[in-house]
Amino acid sequence: MSLTRPDLDALPAYVPGRSVPGAIKLASNEVPYGPLPGVVEAVTEAITGVHRYPDMGVTQLRGRLADRLGVDIERIATGCGSVALFEHLFRVACMPGDEVVYAWRSFEAYPIIGATTAAKNVRVPNTAEHAHDLDAMAAAITERTRIVVVCNPNNPTGTAVRKAELDAFIDRVPANVIVALDEAYREFVTDADVPDGLREYGDRPNVVVLRTLSKAWGLAGLRVGYLIGSPEVAAAVRKVVTPFSTSLAAQAAALAALDAEPEMRRRVDLVVAERTRVVEAVRKVYPDVPETQSNFFWLPLGDQSAEFAATCERAGVIVRAFQGDGVRVTIGTPEENDVFLGAL
Ligand SMILES: Cc1ncc(COP(=O)(O)O)c(C=O)c1O
Repeated sequence: MSLTRPDLDALPAYVPGRSVPGAIKLASNEVPYGPLPGVVEAVTEAITGVHRYPDMGVTQLRGRLADRLGVDIERIATGCGSVALFEHLFRVACMPGDEVVYAWRSFEAYPIIGATTAAKNVRVPNTAEHAHDLDAMAAAITERTRIVVVCNPNNPTGTAVRKAELDAFIDRVPANVIVALDEAYREFVTDADVPDGLREYGDRPNVVVLRTLSKAWGLAGLRVGYLIGSPEVAAAVRKVVTPFSTSLAAQAAALAALDAEPEMRRRVDLVVAERTRVVEAVRKVYPDVPETQSNFFWLPLGDQSAEFAATCERAGVIVRAFQGDGVRVTIGTPEENDVFLGAL
């Protein structure tokens, strides 16, 4: 007899990008330029107060985000990374047997979270171009569907859905189904036709936008994600959030990072310029790399994926293989990218 749920055995584990001492890590979609200015100082100062619990309401940070985004503070919830907010959102929306629809392949946390929050996972295969098939996703919605996730841009393929197709899709989703727009990589989007989910759809009560300070804002190690939803949905999420899970250091770091927005933009511009250079070079060898709006790109190598990653590792570069499917490569510094291109 098992002490835990029998269905856990069937659950894939989350596979983090590997860190190998001395190797270049292009495996976790991090920005390679260190913490933003002011962050280390803010965390150092905050650390002197860690014998106290942080502000459970995360009031100052939520207020700052609300001002920045032009929304009411009641519409914001923060969490231990946006991955935790996904879990909270699934928990507040789903009862046993309810369904969550998402594209596949997409962010590998969705199936894990879905499987343990009572929901049935409904995966809709990507198009041949490695993008969300929004028509098929809309068609997959049933009376039991509670949430449909649109990952824009999509991890790990980098592809993005455009405004006209997302408009049409959101119009098709029933008002009692949450559309969760995962915009973890929003800051790297350069195509003006890829909609800002908050600006375009934020007034719809069933739309929830999830973003993170882990990527462009350089706080992956401190874990701050935020969600913007209707006051009702945001309040429900705050109700179930693990208490104090936006830690003291995380709150201080997030406030400092948000103060450094111009530097964040400068770094994102560097990443985007490198993205253009690297993808152009890679396409000379592998023309099938789909267009990317993110800080990584996708090599649809199928069964060769693990071998490709092993070859990169021998050259000192860690990439992320999804065996049978493809390889995701994060854009690093120009020097790091050159090592990758050399290995290629
Ligand atoms: C698409 C997507 N959503 C959400 C996340 C979660 O990021 P975090 O929990 O660090 O905020 C990630 C991280 O890799 C991601 O790729």
